[in-house]
Amino acid sequence: MCTDHQWINNAIRKIEADFQRSADTHLIKLDLPSIAGIDLYLKDESTHPTGSLKHRLARSLFLYAICNGWVGPDTPIIEASSGSTAISEAYFARLLGLPFIAVMPKCTARKKIEQIEFYGGKAHLVDRSDQIYAESRRLAQALNGHYMDQFTYAERATDWRGNSNIADSIFQQMQREDHPIPSWIVMSPGTGGTSATIGRFIRYQQHNTKLCVVDPENSVFFDYYQTRNSELTLQCGSKIEGIGRPRVEPSFIPNVVDEMRQIPDAASIATIHWLEKILGRKAGASTGTNLYGALQLASEMKQRGEQGSIVTLLCDSGERYLDTYYNPEWLAHNIGDLAPYADKLETFQQIGQLD
Ligand SMILES: Cc1ncc(COP(=O)(O)O)c(C=O)c1O
Repeated sequence: MCTDHQWINNAIRKIEADFQRSADTHLIKLDLPSIAGIDLYLKDESTHPTGSLKHRLARSLFLYAICNGWVGPDTPIIEASSGSTAISEAYFARLLGLPFIAVMPKCTARKKIEQIEFYGGKAHLVDRSDQIYAESRRLAQALNGHYMDQFTYAERATDWRGNSNIADSIFQQMQREDHPIPSWIVMSPGTGGTSATIGRFIRYQQHNTKLCVVDPENSVFFDYYQTRNSELTLQCGSKIEGIGRPRVEPSFIPNVVDEMRQIPDAASIATIHWLEKILGRKAGASTGTNLYGALQLASEMKQRGEQGSIVTLLCDSGERYLDTYYNPEWLAHNIGDLAPYADKLETFQQIGQLD
């Protein structure tokens, strides 16, 4: 427990000053003539200083932990992560001069581990993604440190009513568009924190927007949404880094989700390769999951003769995954044939239908 007000004040001031120096992320409108009247947007979270949407979460988790008195001048910070959150937390730990250890599955992208080390953090690797929680708790106890526990605290550390959270930012940036209130916002869950923030904000602001959450293969969230059985677990981890979990995470709030879909991993990967041709940039695989769900919704809206807008997230850049999602050998071995989905996406681009 930390009661050193001077240290707390100084730590908060440093984080707030860092926020003050930061700019918001862009909202990119995709050019898709085959769905005229339905506008599709990507909120580009890859442009945060630490390269993903997790920059927002890391800031909130540190503020929450410091204001709760859980972190002081000598507290080692431990986190369970699939990598992105750990990179962002390593950045904030360095800002505050605190040691940082990330507990991650050993399949985590090499580039992410290098970035954690770049910010002065240490990577502590375990065999499987369902082992990160217990190992983080054990390490925190052994080192007299603080286990940040994003999977529990993501939903409550973020100020969902506004205060420049991601949902607030999306609705602000949409104000001058043809369809300023999106028909759908689409997001994939890792902690579930971003989905919770968006879903709560939509309700709080009384918008007519629906939240569609898209889950990859090898994740319990989709089945949990159908059954509400919170005991569901899986042995194997998701192949889409950052999203899909082997247990029902406390930060995933099903009641604020209007619809859930499961997206095949091959569809997610085919979508980021398709997106590269439209955007000229590589994105991480979770962006593919998000966008494939958004394209399904756009296709269905077109078939019903509806117009409107759909917003989803570009969560992180594909440069982190050059040796996996952009490596044909890795893909052949781990994901399989992308061609059926590449064909579907080609058809979508021609006639605006994704079957
Ligand atoms: C690349 C990427 N995409 C999506 C997500 C999901 O975000 P959330 O944890 O808010 O559900 C994460 C979370 O770690 C991520 O790293």
